[in-house]
Amino acid sequence: MKKVRIGIVGLGFMGTTHFRIYRKLKNAEIAAVSDLDPAKLAGDISKVVGNISEEDNSKPLDLEGVKAYSKVGDMLKDASIDIVDICVPTPDHQKISTEALKKGKNVFCEKPVCRTLREVEDLAVCARKSGKFFNAGMCIRAWPEYFHVSNLYKEGKLGRIRSAFFRRLSPDITGNSWKNWFMDGNLSGGALLDLHLHDTDFIRFMFGRPKAVTSFGVNSVRSKGGTDHVITNYHFDDCLIAAEGGWAANKKVPFEMSFQMVFEKATVRLAGEGYRIYWENGQVETPQVGDSALPTGWHKELSYFVDCVEKNVQPEKYQNLSEIIDSFKIVMAEQESVDGGKTVSIKY
Ligand SMILES: NC(=O)c1ccc[n+]([C@@H]2O[C@H](COP(=O)([O-])OP(=O)(O)OC[C@H]3O[C@@H](n4cnc5c(N)ncnc54)[C@H](O)[C@@H]3O)[C@@H](O)[C@H]2O)c1
Repeated sequence: MKKVRIGIVGLGFMGTTHFRIYRKLKNAEIAAVSDLDPAKLAGDISKVVGNISEEDNSKPLDLEGVKAYSKVGDMLKDASIDIVDICVPTPDHQKISTEALKKGKNVFCEKPVCRTLREVEDLAVCARKSGKFFNAGMCIRAWPEYFHVSNLYKEGKLGRIRSAFFRRLSPDITGNSWKNWFMDGNLSGGALLDLHLHDTDFIRFMFGRPKAVTSFGVNSVRSKGGTDHVITNYHFDDCLIAAEGGWAANKKVPFEMSFQMVFEKATVRLAGEGYRIYWENGQVETPQVGDSALPTGWHKELSYFVDCVEKNVQPEKYQNLSEIIDSFKIVMAEQESVDGGKTVSIKY
């Protein structure tokens, strides 16, 4: 069986996470890696740190049989690579994605798909014209508990939504990234774009387009020129939907991602007690959504994309580009609302 051949660009936290996931997929093989850092190209990932990883990075990556490129342009010339997986800092996403698509590669690009709305829109045009497959790492749509509740809701099993609250709180990540790029708001967009976008995108995915947003935020606690902590009310008819995200807390604080959604027929929570559904008839259900082979949304989205490329089937399950553009517009409206101190309507 011919395996799908992958080239990974950027071997930081996400690149090494993707590397380990592909290594376990039966229908994928890592053909090449590219990074600006010679130590990482030699397999030394001892300086890589991530938010919810328990991997041991003191051991070098096994790069036997994997070509290593210091220039991504050279990797893109390798005609045998089927998927280019982009895990570099956000400002380089559009340029490398565009180059790869133009070279006839399928592209998986980490989120945020770009740094600005203009870049996302240009990239979407390029992806459509290329005829190749393009997916972005909006992994929360594929994350087991989130995917499960969104399916129950779309199948009508939960009834109408009354209120929903989402949280994504990270400890301070100063010093964790390459050249500390996360802490420069011009590069990362702060916690609002880099972290909280996950919940904004999931809200768009599950409940559709909010008309407006009212956001409160605090800037430059940790990152220069970036919103470090935000709380947003998304304006929908007949329900209250809100989300909070930030990385302003102390370094020792554990990472938290949680939600509570109150529907007509049930309340669904991912919280301290785990993932539970509290049905109106009094029954409390603990759905088993785990999959030992593909335990996280990262595993599911990458495995799905590899399967689609292998079978030449358009990937449609977890995302589409027009929804990603919507999410970007919403998160940019949140930034405007934080900056201007008022509610911002969203033009789609
Ligand atoms: N989906 C998620 O849950 C999630 C989690 C963390 C990060 N991310 C995203 O993944 C992307 C990467 O983040 P990270 O945490 O891995 O960052 P990182 O700082 O840990 O790693 C970035 C890597 O890219 C390399 N690099 C920088 N510019 C390059 C270039 N032009 N060509 C080749 N290599 C280059 C650096 O040497 C470094 O190894 C970001 O867009 C981030 O927002 C997504």
